[in-house]
Amino acid sequence: MKNFNLNTFLISISFALDLVEKELLGVHNFHSKRVAYISLRLARLLGLDSKESFDLVSLAVMHDNGLTEAALKTNLVEEEFYKLEQLKEHCVIGEKNVRDFPFLTNPKNIILYHHEHYDGSGFFGKKGDEIPLMSQIIAFADLLDSAYTLTDSSLKNKHDIYKYVEENKGILFDPIIAEAFFQLARTTAFWLDVTDFMIVEAICNYVEEFTVDIGWNGIFQVSKVFSKIIDTKSKFTARHTAGLIEKIETMAIYYKFDQEKVTKLKIAASLHDLGKLAVSNKILEKETFLDPEEINTIQSHTYFTHRILHKLDAFEEIEEWAYQHHEKLDGSGYPYGLSADELCFESRLMGCLDIYQALTEHRPYRESVSHTTTMKIMTEMVANNKIDKIITKDIDKVFGIYIA
Ligand SMILES: [Fe+2]
Ligand SMILES: [Fe+2]
Ligand SMILES: [Fe+2]
Ligand SMILES: [Fe+2]
Repeated sequence: MKNFNLNTFLISISFALDLVEKELLGVHNFHSKRVAYISLRLARLLGLDSKESFDLVSLAVMHDNGLTEAALKTNLVEEEFYKLEQLKEHCVIGEKNVRDFPFLTNPKNIILYHHEHYDGSGFFGKKGDEIPLMSQIIAFADLLDSAYTLTDSSLKNKHDIYKYVEENKGILFDPIIAEAFFQLARTTAFWLDVTDFMIVEAICNYVEEFTVDIGWNGIFQVSKVFSKIIDTKSKFTARHTAGLIEKIETMAIYYKFDQEKVTKLKIAASLHDLGKLAVSNKILEKETFLDPEEINTIQSHTYFTHRILHKLDAFEEIEEWAYQHHEKLDGSGYPYGLSADELCFESRLMGCLDIYQALTEHRPYRESVSHTTTMKIMTEMVANNKIDKIITKDIDKVFGIYIA
């Protein structure tokens, strides 16, 4: 595909990352975007070229992508999630997750070292020039946005922030970065750019109009990073998206779709539950039946998937296949109550496989349902005009062999 702006794509789906941070850490919304904006502005002053600045925005947006997986691996209770940022695990996981990301300049270990301090007192004891410049820039922006409410542009708050930067230069961060920050912060515009209302426009204002031809496969590598964040948000669904990606690929090959379509279906699968990041873990992780109020809330997830993906160019098909997976043929599904004539083959396929995957996957509170029982449940849904008959039969044919 041509003319794909990776940064615009990331900024759109980073809406989801902000929601995660909000839930896990209680950090203000738009944290990842603010870190991206400050990093970008500092990068220009510190002499990074346009390709490096472009990669830096991607990395800044994703700097805490390892948080949900780290949360899954620790024994912290929910009230202690704020401690996650103090564990180096999230840096290691975050770095690993972006390994296949289609960067322009091959940056290495930037996320790994985003909690290093200039004086060597960070997680890995790297100091000064041992820390990659991009990591130093992200670390500075991250520290600032975590320690202060940057959206408060009152003189008192600005004064406190200047004092913090002044006192910590040469300790937490390089004095050169501190100087570059003072240069930015002198302007009124900087403080208005970082407000919730302006932040997205502000980034777009400064970000390079780079469009890269990374192909659908490159986009899949990007969406895979997000699929991991979605899966690991709840320990109950830790392999749900990964499993759906595998199954949609198997079925797409069975239907002899061309390679481009196979990849597009995999992208749709990896982002189908993106909107779940907007739903609290208290509901996602409930072991007992959900009450009507909770069902009402959880049904919002495909609406958010739609709204997030809708902003993206060239995503029209992918967007439909992703957000329509809970629609039903008789019009009883959500979020739009679409009916049979409005649901294309691929959306029906995604819907059937989502049910198949959810039932056959192991959940901490129940064993996986067998292929045979799953097919019984799905056949009943076919009889009630909920899901597609032919696709359900094909799923039986294809997966019966392997899982029966
Ligand atoms: Fe972090
Ligand atoms: Fe952060
Ligand atoms: Fe879903
Ligand atoms: Fe799902």
